[in-house]
Amino acid sequence: MKQPVIAIDGPAASGKSTVAALVAQALGALNVNTGAMFRAVTLAGMQRGITTAAMCTEERFRDILDHITLTYATNADGKLELQLDGDFPGAKLRSPEVAALVSPVATLGCVRDYLKQWQRSLAGTHLLVMEGRDIGTAVFPDARWKYFITASPEERARRRLNQSGETFTGATLEQVAAEIAERDRIDSTRAIAPLKPAPDAVLIDTTGMTIEDVVEQITRQVRHEI
Ligand code: CDP
Repeated sequence: MKQPVIAIDGPAASGKSTVAALVAQALGALNVNTGAMFRAVTLAGMQRGITTAAMCTEERFRDILDHITLTYATNADGKLELQLDGDFPGAKLRSPEVAALVSPVATLGCVRDYLKQWQRSLAGTHLLVMEGRDIGTAVFPDARWKYFITASPEERARRRLNQSGETFTGATLEQVAAEIAERDRIDSTRAIAPLKPAPDAVLIDTTGMTIEDVVEQITRQVRHEI
């Protein structure tokens, strides 16, 4: 039996999050952004003194994972939001400091196991949209729908630069492109659950496509097959 999951994977700043949120809204599905989970674990590490990639070791993070409380809770707007140790980290998760450390943290087996267990527990009878790097390959290899969303490196750098608060003040397009390329390099070459399309994923290159076109392509297919 295939799981009622729409897996949306792809590289950094490919537009996955926007597409996933709109697809979930259109289909009345639960939307889970797994990148935010990896960012929250990274933030937890930073709050406990982790400042460099070299400090991101299995040993340190096993200890950190033993001491954090990561969950979904209802925020002031009545919506479910990721909560770390009783606080809503919100925009802190999208800071350039977190972005700089998240890929090394995401190479760690203890972090991936911890989050995979949680991610799998969210599936049930309800339709789920889950977005990340390894959803169609490692978390839900039996997802009913799988998409791999890309865009050209230039387009992705442009999109990231236009998202306020996500890049250092005064960052240039070249710097942003280099940061994204480095994250993609680490994500696609790591030993555990690397970023790559599942063999049965539908590839969508969104360069030159509108968000609405991408959302329409996915929702049309899902509605047709549901
Ligand atoms: O939004 P953006 O494309 O910048 O990235 P994100 O989805 O927030 O993911 C941040 C980082 O978390 C990625 O660069 C990966 O290192 C890691 N990640 C992962 O390893 N596996 C996932 N399923 C999701 C994110």
